[in-house]
Amino acid sequence: MAEKRSIIHVEGGYPLSGHVTVEGAKNSALKLMAATLMAPGVTTLTNVPDNSDVHTMGKVLSKLGARITVCDAHTLQIDTSDVKSWVTPYELVVKMRASTAVLGPLLARFGKAVVGMPGGCKIGARKVDMHMMGLSALGVDFQIGHGNIHASAPGGLKGCSVTLEFPSVGATENLLMAGALAHGKTVIDNAACEPEIVDLATMLNEMGASITGAGTPVIEIEGVRELSPVTHGVIGDRIEAGTFVAAAGLVGDPVRVHGFNPDHLGLVLKKYEAMGISIKRIEDGLLVFREGSLLPTSIQTLPFPGFPTDLQAQTMVLLALAEGDSVVTENIFENRFMMAAELNRMGAHIRIEGHHALIQGVAGFSGAPVEGPDLRAGAALVLAGLVADGYTDVSGVEYIHRGYERFTDKLRGLGAHVEEIEVE
Ligand code: EPZ
Repeated sequence: MAEKRSIIHVEGGYPLSGHVTVEGAKNSALKLMAATLMAPGVTTLTNVPDNSDVHTMGKVLSKLGARITVCDAHTLQIDTSDVKSWVTPYELVVKMRASTAVLGPLLARFGKAVVGMPGGCKIGARKVDMHMMGLSALGVDFQIGHGNIHASAPGGLKGCSVTLEFPSVGATENLLMAGALAHGKTVIDNAACEPEIVDLATMLNEMGASITGAGTPVIEIEGVRELSPVTHGVIGDRIEAGTFVAAAGLVGDPVRVHGFNPDHLGLVLKKYEAMGISIKRIEDGLLVFREGSLLPTSIQTLPFPGFPTDLQAQTMVLLALAEGDSVVTENIFENRFMMAAELNRMGAHIRIEGHHALIQGVAGFSGAPVEGPDLRAGAALVLAGLVADGYTDVSGVEYIHRGYERFTDKLRGLGAHVEEIEVE
């Protein structure tokens, strides 16, 4: 019996117009869920995106003993009163690297944790050496065995000053959570500044933590004795928003993108305007369209407030259609140009040289069957299909489901001819 699989089938050539509202940020929600382990009781999270990564994190917490009530598609009540286990299910951590976000909370609550070594993925090795270096400074001992990280803090977590080699988002988050319940003061220097870090620190402070400096490279945390459950709304997803802004930059006539803070896309919007896309601030979002040609530019992905790596693939689609040559440099992940080969199959002219993608703009794409290698590249290939001549079939839909809720419904709501279908 032939295996069934989903693809996203796109017919190019239709403009997008109307309104789209993005969900809560996946890359915040996952950590906020993990942080509920630090506050025994019922924490309510609102504006939670309904995607498969959130479902996976829900399974991780349930395996640890949490009880999760899905009040509606975007509201979760997480009761961590009876969590007794500190051993994270190996198969779930391997499936989703973000599960390592339970490391700090479990150490804070139990003084120990067993977490599967997160596998690398297609975009890179995805190491956790900086998480372990930082937590070791707080008194955590690590043993690696049988694919698991065994962490323990026999003398409890002790606040300390830690300087990260690189402003790692995940390492900053684990240190933030561990420090919140450590004895004494923790300082994280060279901390990540992403808006999702600020959202996590905000909720921890609502729970009773004492954190200052989140969103800047120096975060100070005065350890407290306990945290209490709260109700907290997840910030809007700047990456989902940026994906729709890019779509509108391709075929917007115009599109209004709501449900997020445009300040979280500062440099991206400046770059897109320089590329010839018209962007206007409106109530709770942006109005986006394009009249003239797309113009070339250079992009360097960097930690926030630099250009986000999670919008690199979507931007490459725009630059592949610009009048002239562009260069995209990927500084965050070792292997995040896999989409280029797929886009070349649609007629783009992209050459990869190490961390640089050298892009010669072309007049247009022709539709083709293409493979989405990660969740952002998959979404970007769907965008390419919106402007391609003819039909494009994008596979790797399971990746897109990890970070986008109802992606094809939202695009169809804007006028795109796109649907998710099952094929043999
Ligand atoms: C988060 O990943 C996001 N994921 C990623 O989004 C995002 O691309 C990334 O931050 C950068 O903004 C979630 O929040 C769930 P890092 P994270 O630690 O925390 C290396 C998406 O599409 N590194 O800042 O893993 C690492 O290998 C995903 O939604 C170490 O070497 O990112 C990477 O090359 C993709 N050692 C770089 O640093 C460490 O201990 C940045 O990683 C930690 C990281």
